[in-house]
Amino acid sequence: MVTYIDLTLIAVALTLLLWYLFSKPKDYPPGPIKWPIVGNMFQMKVDGYTHRAMSKWHKKYGEVVGLFTGSSPVVLISGLDAIREALTRDDFSGRQGNSILKIMNDGERLGIVNTDGEVWKAQRRFTLHRLRDFGFGKNTLESIAHEEIRAVFNDIDRASGGAEKGYSNPVCFHDILGGTSINILWHIISGKRYDHDDPEFKYLTTSVNKFFQVSEPSGGILIAFPGLVKIFPSLARTKELRATCEPLFKFLEDMIAEHKKTIDYDNPRDFTDVYLVEIEKQKGNPNSSFHEKQLREVCAEAFIGGTDTTFANLTFAILFLVLFPDAQKKAQDELDRVVGRERLPSLEDKPRLPYAEAMVQEILRISSVVALCVPHAPLTSKDAISFRGYRIPKGTRVLFNFYDLHHDPNYWDDPLSFKPERFLDGNENLIRHDPLLPFSAGKRVCPGETLARNNIFLIVTAILQKYTLSTPEGRPKPTTDPTPSFVLCAKRFETKVQLRS
Ligand code: HEM
Repeated sequence: MVTYIDLTLIAVALTLLLWYLFSKPKDYPPGPIKWPIVGNMFQMKVDGYTHRAMSKWHKKYGEVVGLFTGSSPVVLISGLDAIREALTRDDFSGRQGNSILKIMNDGERLGIVNTDGEVWKAQRRFTLHRLRDFGFGKNTLESIAHEEIRAVFNDIDRASGGAEKGYSNPVCFHDILGGTSINILWHIISGKRYDHDDPEFKYLTTSVNKFFQVSEPSGGILIAFPGLVKIFPSLARTKELRATCEPLFKFLEDMIAEHKKTIDYDNPRDFTDVYLVEIEKQKGNPNSSFHEKQLREVCAEAFIGGTDTTFANLTFAILFLVLFPDAQKKAQDELDRVVGRERLPSLEDKPRLPYAEAMVQEILRISSVVALCVPHAPLTSKDAISFRGYRIPKGTRVLFNFYDLHHDPNYWDDPLSFKPERFLDGNENLIRHDPLLPFSAGKRVCPGETLARNNIFLIVTAILQKYTLSTPEGRPKPTTDPTPSFVLCAKRFETKVQLRS
């Protein structure tokens, strides 16, 4: 028979269990209820978008929000002051490491994006310096970019029917711009350019796109239930993620093997060669982090980090230029005045093309393709770090609310409109806006920033110099809702191109 004592004990046990299941770590930032087992996993999206859920939580709970993917802590930092403060602190510059890349590297954390501490410092410093030596971000790269732009023109002419058919076929720029920016980067890394129609190259760039579509900024099921994913890999689409990485890793191994066969150690030709020279130089140094697997990973990260981000910005550039024809016209008038039509725009023209420069800033703002940053993690030997009165436990995934920052009406007037003018003063001088952080800031700031900015500038100005873009007659205007993905991209849409007379 059940007694009052039994009932009291059951009630106490249940209360303790519920308290345990719903409890959060001490001094954890405010946030929604932590549901047992799943945490906030099923609340991490609004209309299918993680960045929309994060904006909602910023408004509701403030600049520091505590969330959970399963029982794994995720902290969201929003607003310019809080974001800047955290990004400039050393103890916020760690990483958890991408689970799939770890699997691909037999459990090791390699490269730049996924490491911290001494390995990260050595790899990042070396990579940044050597990429600069090979013209990364410099005008010497311009001729490679111009070659790519001519290939883009050919593709546009072919897809639209060209002069023969009066450019009458609508064009989908997603099919044209995929290989452009990666080809420019790849030239520095491996000395090689790929034809835009090369099936292997097309396959690789599409794979990277898939990699981001399957990745979750909040970590998803891979972070919440790693044990379960080991037994049922299909839950986290691990197989799919692996399948996107394997061909890229194989492609890079072949590229490195080819370089090893033909290298002249006294005359390195490209980044891969200088890395191989460094491996030789550091042989015998027990603390060296330079080896072939590391080279493969650094190249993979450049491929992954450099492909989809720039491509996504270019798709948004075309989209907003179609939707805001006045901005297009202003950029074209400036190009006609300063550059004319006889030669392609050059990086040297930049100081005399303030509207075009402002347009690049506005493309980066309105697209905010890396909407929540690449997740950081506390870097500390203690159990937690403190921030604005809260405790952030070691192992927390820290997200930065860039999309929200770039669309916050407190910083930007009419944030959903494409207005390059917001980056110009009354005298057509460029102005800096502190709340614009598309490449992040601090120690982890994107090392590809200059290259990406230059590519977007050269490609968009060249397209506008030659063509006028609009929505094909009788078609609805394309949506500005992005494809839900770790890297936001414009949804596919068709554009009418007209050769400028
Ligand atoms: C428009 C294009 C691009 C955007 C918007 C972008 C944005 C970003 C952002 C937001 C981060 C995270 C920084 C942080 O963790 O605080 C990042 C990191 C990184 N990006 Fe980019 N990126 C772009 C292009 C590139 C290119 C072309 C490369 C090729 C070299 C590249 C390589 C990297 C690497 C290696 C990191 C990791 C840095 C580290 O952990 O120390 N990115 N990028």
